[in-house]
Amino acid sequence: MTRAVIEGIGHGLPSRTMTNFDIEKLVETSDEWITQRTGIKERRVCSPDETAATLSVLAAQEAMRAAGVQGHEIDMVVCGTVTGDYTFPATSCLIQEAIGAKNAGAMDVGAACAGFIYALDVAAAMIESGRLKTVLVVGVDVLTKFVDWTDRSTCVLFGDGAGAVVIRARENTDRGVIKTVLLADGEGAKHIVCDLGGSKFPIGAAWSEGKKATVFMNGAEVYRFAVHAMGDACCRALELAGMNANDIDLFVPHQANLRIIQSAQKRLGLPDERVFVNVQKYGNTSGGSIPLGLYEAQKEGRLKQGDVVMTVGFGAGLVWGANLIRW
Ligand code: ACO
Repeated sequence: MTRAVIEGIGHGLPSRTMTNFDIEKLVETSDEWITQRTGIKERRVCSPDETAATLSVLAAQEAMRAAGVQGHEIDMVVCGTVTGDYTFPATSCLIQEAIGAKNAGAMDVGAACAGFIYALDVAAAMIESGRLKTVLVVGVDVLTKFVDWTDRSTCVLFGDGAGAVVIRARENTDRGVIKTVLLADGEGAKHIVCDLGGSKFPIGAAWSEGKKATVFMNGAEVYRFAVHAMGDACCRALELAGMNANDIDLFVPHQANLRIIQSAQKRLGLPDERVFVNVQKYGNTSGGSIPLGLYEAQKEGRLKQGDVVMTVGFGAGLVWGANLIRW
């Protein structure tokens, strides 16, 4: 069977760091509240000239160097994002041009914080079917450009970041994407939404008055959903693979809130050393969160070739899903 194996990983982060103390100067909040309720201490924030595409290109170039892959060898660029540079063209096209992937197709996948999970599965399926050999998968979001910096219930949560992997078709190996679960419940679309700027409420249209181009989130509702979704996706993926939580060498969950991560950890019965957490440094980077986690886990020596890694994410849609990967 042809497997989709991750052969290189990279990351892209804005240079500017914003701490909880910096946010204390903007809205009525405190480092203590943010730390206790979310686990976040600081996040990276794009400058005007840093965008989803610029962060993605940094991540992609690093992943390509690690995989020993040149631009012309890439067959497809798949980018998981909901904060691309433009409404159109797709951000994947901007990445494709910048990395010289002359022979590649390019597409964006819009699954918010589960963007990388969805994008990786799209890419893996194309490889496993035998149609493509080498795919670049990017997860990126720059939500700090879409938050209302006067709304303390959302602005403290998000940060910007990108991660990318090069996946290649390999035979006779047990490495690669093992199983994926992708789920959605559009009934919950209203709980996290950025309503201005789409075709329903175009900017400038008379009927768009009062709509906002910033994130609205029903935090308590999303929290309840997230706790259920993380456990649900992991258990389904493990069942599909005929595995159980004891088989997981490292759990790399979406980094939205430390309490949500801990509840998933508890449900799976995993000890701390098998759970990766970096939410304290980056906040919720949405589509960037899981590949950034994988990148740092590998760099810290916590993820080695042959390890079973479980990734899981949830987000606006509502969507959720998990990838079980042999690294
Ligand atoms: N600083 C100080 N106080 C605050 C802040 C803040 N930044 N934000 C809210 N509060 C206040 C509230 O006003 C409320 O006050 P009240 O009791 O007087 O009304 C109080 O703190 C408690 O508010 P809650 O909303 O109950 O706080 P909670 O413990 O639920 O934490 C949080 C809120 C962190 C947003 C949590 O609900 C959460 O993490 N939700 C999930 C968010 C998420 O993961 N989103 C990911 C998807 S995003 C995407 O896909 C793009």
